[in-house]
Amino acid sequence: MKTLTFIGYGNMALAIAKGLVGKYRLEIVGRNEEKLKKVQQSLQQSLSEDVKYFLLNSFDISDKDIVLAVKPNNLEEVGEKLNGKANVIYSVLAGTPIEKIKTHIESDAVVRAMPNLAASLQASMTTLTGDEAYKNEALEIFSAIGEALWLGSEKELDIATALAGSGPAYLALIAEALSDGAVKQGLKRADAAKITEGLFGGFAKLLKTTHPALLKDGVMSPGGTTAAGYAALEEAGVRNGCIQAIEAAYKRAKELG
Ligand SMILES: NC(=O)c1ccc[n+]([C@@H]2O[C@H](COP(=O)([O-])OP(=O)(O)OC[C@H]3O[C@@H](n4cnc5c(N)ncnc54)[C@H](OP(=O)(O)O)[C@@H]3O)[C@@H](O)[C@H]2O)c1
Repeated sequence: MKTLTFIGYGNMALAIAKGLVGKYRLEIVGRNEEKLKKVQQSLQQSLSEDVKYFLLNSFDISDKDIVLAVKPNNLEEVGEKLNGKANVIYSVLAGTPIEKIKTHIESDAVVRAMPNLAASLQASMTTLTGDEAYKNEALEIFSAIGEALWLGSEKELDIATALAGSGPAYLALIAEALSDGAVKQGLKRADAAKITEGLFGGFAKLLKTTHPALLKDGVMSPGGTTAAGYAALEEAGVRNGCIQAIEAAYKRAKELG
């Protein structure tokens, strides 16, 4: 069994690590021993094998396969505390280019990964890019927390970050707004929430097999209710708002990088 060494034990590190329990031998590295112990215990519950933990200070990354899961602005400080040269770094740091990672942490290869919030349910849509030598390995690791897709460049990864990384927030707005609309017309709040939840679950399955334009055409009968509602969405500029949201988030990702 291969070993993966996590640097950082926050939300994203734990979401990924939980998906990998039993598939990889796990090591956790961080700056706080109490937190390290807690994370070790939570991961070890479902394992017969030991999850090792190490303090960040002077940790030797030589020949290790690292999952880097601290905040982007911790990169420099974390890099200063590490010794040696890793085999590969799988970095989940949003908007942080490979070149920047390489200037702070020595590694033969770097792969950038962009999971999303659904990683905690093992339903992330994760995009990846970087050193092609680790493409298959990266796809295998991140498929453990949902779906994974390799992209051809860092530019595409930053655009995908605007789509899949930030996407849960956009869809949350749509879900809440649709519920609000139903409540405004007189539906009970709990019923509206339950219906919206079912709507999104069913829609996700339909989207896997049918193009969105065809889904829309399939439900829109001439002069019907959907056509009326759809026209209202277009009039309110929802389509243009979505296009602008991706543009704004991508622009921000570039600024952060
Ligand atoms: N959450 C998401 O939906 C999501 C999606 C895609 C990518 N990401 C990326 O995932 C990374 C981690 O995000 P998160 O949501 O997991 O954050 P988080 O829960 O706040 O975890 C941050 C981790 O960084 C450590 N850390 C903070 N400052 C440090 C320092 N100066 N030196 C060493 N370690 C330090 C924290 O340790 P302490 O607890 O000891 O401070 C903790 O382990 C970020 O780079 C983010 O861009 C997150």
